[in-house]
Amino acid sequence: MAEFVTIYEVGPRDGLQNEKEIVPTADKIALIDLLSEAGFAKIEVTSFVSPKWVPQMADAAEVMAGIRRRPGVTYGVLTPNMKGFEAALAAGADEVAIFASASETFSQKNINCSIEESFARFAPVLEAALAAGVPVRGYVSCVVACPYEGAIAPAAVRAVAERLMDAGCHEVSLGDTIGAGAPETIAAMLEAVFQAVPAERLAGHYHDTGNRALANVEASLELGLRTFDSAVGGLGGCPYAPGAKGNVATGALVDLLQARGFETGIDRAKLAVAEAFMMGRIARLSAG
Ligand code: HMG
Ligand code: MG
Repeated sequence: MAEFVTIYEVGPRDGLQNEKEIVPTADKIALIDLLSEAGFAKIEVTSFVSPKWVPQMADAAEVMAGIRRRPGVTYGVLTPNMKGFEAALAAGADEVAIFASASETFSQKNINCSIEESFARFAPVLEAALAAGVPVRGYVSCVVACPYEGAIAPAAVRAVAERLMDAGCHEVSLGDTIGAGAPETIAAMLEAVFQAVPAERLAGHYHDTGNRALANVEASLELGLRTFDSAVGGLGGCPYAPGAKGNVATGALVDLLQARGFETGIDRAKLAVAEAFMMGRIARLSAG
């Protein structure tokens, strides 16, 4: 039987947080429902973050309340602090994610605190989530390079990934936030992280700025990673990472995995429907 690779569809969150025009709540809900129908087991729906920092995600509770939940699908959300976690719990999130950075400057710009302070904020979130039986995913941003500091040492990534695991995360997603990675730098980073966290607990989250995200996925597959984050239509970026382009496109990722003989559980035709829907809506919004 073919080996399975899990795709974590992050388009509704990472994809839409960076769109210039705010996507209407009803369109977000329709997109998530189409993605549920397409067979994703994991969908990152929204972020419970400050609406002053990311106005695109201000409708997090409404989106959560409006989606049609398909049994077996994990609907995840970002929660940077207790305020976000409490709202996420009330909204019925199946999984929450805390997001740290391997770069001090990016941590300050993105969540307004140092790496050390971020772990102090995450501690009560982890405690409350685990007590409530809600699994916690951890992100490390800037795993290859930072938009403000340049190259980031693999040892710095390992240290943050190890802290997230030790704190109780079940999985750590490694974010090449600005898509600066190439197969060699991604492999060097992964080899360093493996000293602390095994491949089966890691996910690759590769933005495609340099058009190398698929090559980076291939390098990661070779080293044993079996979970990848991607966004429908290649949407995405981070408002606090200037120049960051979209995530690797889900359709291209599914095609690559199928060509390599992996099973993904995704209905490619239904994924194409979700993609056409969202790209059509965004084109209409941008046209004004
Ligand atoms: P702060 O200003 O230091 O926070 O921001 P604060 O505690 O001083 O609160 C300021 C205001 O925000 C207050 O409201 C709070 O109530 C409110 P006011 O009294 O002024 O009216 N507030 C909140 N509101 C709703 N939900 C919350 C929340 N927390 C505070 N959870 C904070 C600190 C972390 C809140 C802020 O910096 C923030 O929201 N940052 C999020 C930035 C973000 O979402 N970035 C994108 C996601 S990360 C990413 O894209 C990377 C990733 O994809 C991986 C990769 O590619 O590398 C994951
Ligand atoms: Mg991202």
